[in-house]
Amino acid sequence: EKCDIGLIGLGVMGKNLALNLADNGYRIAAFDLDHQKIEDAMAQDKAESGKGGRIVGCSSYTELLSRLTVPHMIVLSIPAGDIVDDVCHKLVDAGIKADDIIVDTGNSLWTDTVRREKQYRGQFFFFSTAVSGGEVGARFGPSLMPSGDPYAWARIEPVWEAIAAKVDPATGKAIERFEPGNPVKEGEPCAAYIGPSGAGHYVKMVHNGIEYADMQLICEAYHLMRAGLDMSPAEISDVFAEWNKGVLESYLIEISAEVLREVDSDTNAPLVDLILDKAGQKGTGLWTAVSSLEIGSPAPTIAQAVYARSLSTLKEDRVLASKLLQGPAIDQALVADRDAVIQSLHDGLYCSKICAYAQGFQLMQMASDEHGWQLDFGSIAKIWRAGCIIRAAFLQSITEAYQRQEDLHNLLLDSFFAEQINKYQANWRKSIANATLLGIPCGAFSSALAYYDSYRCETLPANLLQGQRDYFGAHTFERVDKPRGKKFHVEWGRPGRPMRQL
Ligand code: 6PG
Repeated sequence: EKCDIGLIGLGVMGKNLALNLADNGYRIAAFDLDHQKIEDAMAQDKAESGKGGRIVGCSSYTELLSRLTVPHMIVLSIPAGDIVDDVCHKLVDAGIKADDIIVDTGNSLWTDTVRREKQYRGQFFFFSTAVSGGEVGARFGPSLMPSGDPYAWARIEPVWEAIAAKVDPATGKAIERFEPGNPVKEGEPCAAYIGPSGAGHYVKMVHNGIEYADMQLICEAYHLMRAGLDMSPAEISDVFAEWNKGVLESYLIEISAEVLREVDSDTNAPLVDLILDKAGQKGTGLWTAVSSLEIGSPAPTIAQAVYARSLSTLKEDRVLASKLLQGPAIDQALVADRDAVIQSLHDGLYCSKICAYAQGFQLMQMASDEHGWQLDFGSIAKIWRAGCIIRAAFLQSITEAYQRQEDLHNLLLDSFFAEQINKYQANWRKSIANATLLGIPCGAFSSALAYYDSYRCETLPANLLQGQRDYFGAHTFERVDKPRGKKFHVEWGRPGRPMRQL
């Protein structure tokens, strides 16, 4: 019996995608350079299904192709980078044909995906599907962001819709069932065609940028409670668990509460206190920040989250500086007012989060305009409601905002979000003032507030800036009292200041 889908790369994501596909009735031909990983995947298939045989291990690319139905559909679950091209070339050598499809599910840089689609056109269909949701998502329902040739999509669509996370359309919430052999079949799948090649990886990149911001905002709230209010990780875990019942309900808040509750079995200390405070990163958050700078769509909270990770890696400097550089004198009355400080923090986190998402969505919109992708933001918000790392009750509100107005420029201009910020902004400002007075860094919170205050400012000091530019470099400026587009230059400092219209 032939297999339906080939899967290359049986790391954490690949193995779990294979098991998810198998649960949904697909037979998988699987290959990995590490033979042990093939054995492990087959053993897990056997253990879960009783008889095995749903995942068929292959020992070469040629064998993999020979085991598949024609035309072939091959899913790559391998790290981003040159290895994707290596594997494509090996599959070409092994005999892949023009009608076959290779689907890249890694966190590839979107421009690589655009290049690959062009490069391999005629040899096979290079299609991409960005996957979010980590190990459990891959196993029981990820959020999938496919893009590329519509012909390939027509063939892949039923497969992705089967394995994706599902949302109950009545509530907008995930239908979760983490049972091997019993996949969720009902509900709306978190898989929607994003657009032409590269669009899906771009959207996943921005998802990760937002993920960075979300994570950093939660970390800053934790930091203020831990170092500013001297609360224990268990106490902070309780606060997060409570927050998870309201507007902040999200996967990232939920797992943060669980991380904070964990106790090290050797030392009995809270495990979080033993984890070295140097953050890793694989690049997607950085790419988002770079793209926002290149396109000129401000995403300061996302960029700040990347900087916060960079700053965390300067551990040796920080140890030194902590002995040398002083913080503020602490007002004990503030520390004693714990409940109020925590309430402001909650509201501040919520408002900052709204801004981070506003930045991410506006960035996608500007990229969509620039590349002609015609992204559908309602649909993107919908497929982020379940399965992915940033899944949250909040995504339902974003979905509704785009339902109210399809071409919404910025989430802050939506009536619901504008009203939410109006309601909570006093506490948002207090949360940043409190952190500042306690000497606790809150770059993501404050960059979000500065973004908000700038965005709502009818007049920014860019008038002075234009004056400065014209002064030293004759860069010209426009005037508010003259038609737009007309350029002026002043001979600054000269008597009579002759003004020239250019
Ligand atoms: C997801 C995650 C996933 C992965 C990131 C983490 O959506 O499932 O974003 O893609 O965990 O690579 O990125 P960093 O290692 O850069 O934090």
